[in-house]
Amino acid sequence: MHKKKLNILITAGGTREYIDPVRFISNASSGRMGYALARAALKAGHRVTLITAPTALKPPAGATVVPVETSAEMFAAVKAAFDRCDGLLMTAAVSDYRPAKTSTHKLKKHNTELVLHLKPTPDILAWAGRHKKHGQRICGFALEDRDIFANAEQKLRRKKLDMVVANPPGAIGAERSTLHIKTRDDNWQTFENFSKTRSAAALLRHFEKLFDTQ
Ligand code: C5P
Repeated sequence: MHKKKLNILITAGGTREYIDPVRFISNASSGRMGYALARAALKAGHRVTLITAPTALKPPAGATVVPVETSAEMFAAVKAAFDRCDGLLMTAAVSDYRPAKTSTHKLKKHNTELVLHLKPTPDILAWAGRHKKHGQRICGFALEDRDIFANAEQKLRRKKLDMVVANPPGAIGAERSTLHIKTRDDNWQTFENFSKTRSAAALLRHFEKLFDTQ
């Protein structure tokens, strides 16, 4: 168990970007990894704030849970909690794009093509990297289907992360997955076909170690 009790901020689930009041763009994230990390951190005696997009999971008892739906809501919740946290685990699958405008009324069906204009969402993790204070540590996730190590390592540097977790697309929504992790100073480590509970415990141990070097 880690000697220092930390305030850990975790984001989980896939955001919903609304097209109209009843339709949205989202992704296949189940939220399992983020919730497993929250449980592992609570078990290790840390304080946990879980900012969660909608999932079918029961939030772990003992966590401060902040439910959100959209990437904009998640961004506002992260901004509100970031200063008070020691570490951020940005597990959420934040939508990279959202509709350029959300219709206030339900869109009517027509027998013609419908073109949807999308615009990029703000990168929450990159914001956290830019606003990181001395002693704070942040970890991002990279779902990559090509050049997994090079792309994930680029994210580690570009977003000013302390740790990156890389996984192939098969990991999203799955019960077991293979993860690769890298901290700034160490080489890649692989957790082969681990359950999310087991990989969460292993990830947390590596994340905790980042606080031993200030
Ligand atoms: O650049 P990419 O989307 O692959 O980066 C993934 C990491 O960045 C994840 O940790 C995810 O939570 C975070 N992210 C974010 N805001 C976005 C997109 C991704 O915080 N708009």
